[in-house]
Amino acid sequence: MNNDIEAVLYSQEQIDRRLDELAAALTNKYHNQNPLVVSVLTGAMIFTSDMLKRLNFRLNVDLVDVSSYDGANSTGQVKLLQDLKSNVAGRDVIIMEDIIDTGRTLKYLVQLLKDRGAKSVAVCALLDKPARREVDIEGDYVGFTTPNEFLVGYGLDYNNLYRNLPYVGILKQAVYAN
Ligand code: IMP
Ligand code: MG
Repeated sequence: MNNDIEAVLYSQEQIDRRLDELAAALTNKYHNQNPLVVSVLTGAMIFTSDMLKRLNFRLNVDLVDVSSYDGANSTGQVKLLQDLKSNVAGRDVIIMEDIIDTGRTLKYLVQLLKDRGAKSVAVCALLDKPARREVDIEGDYVGFTTPNEFLVGYGLDYNNLYRNLPYVGILKQAVYAN
């Protein structure tokens, strides 16, 4: 598995340190509120659970599954594969996402939550790849701004593989070129 990785971009230690900072910023903002944390499956699973342990305020957790990907190519179409269980009307919502790429997934989700009456919607993403942006959206809390490479590990996948790597790495092009 590690042989398919070109380079480690963010080590486990770097991620841990950055999550401490992100969690401090969120705690500072939300400590008097009771937000709903929405984790976007499956990529944000590890990021979300590592963040939740650091968030020192009352919150609720829900999951949503959205898909716009097929292998290493964005299809451009966003599908809601699994809806939330919670009613978001009047709630402060924090979306936890692994990476903002074209931005289509988050644009769709933010709009969906606003249409359902969320009081506020913030985006917290581990990674941001601005070179690939196709729609107008920004993360409110971003871990790392990445180069334009295909990344795996720490939740991010290629064909549902590599999610269990404890770091974020650049996938060798040979793996997805054939
Ligand atoms: P967007 O809708 O194009 O912004 O894509 C967001 C989703 O695509 C993310 O939630 C990821 O699951 C996936 N994605 C985008 N870039 C990468 C990458 O470099 N590696 C793995 N998954 C990615
Ligand atoms: Mg995703």
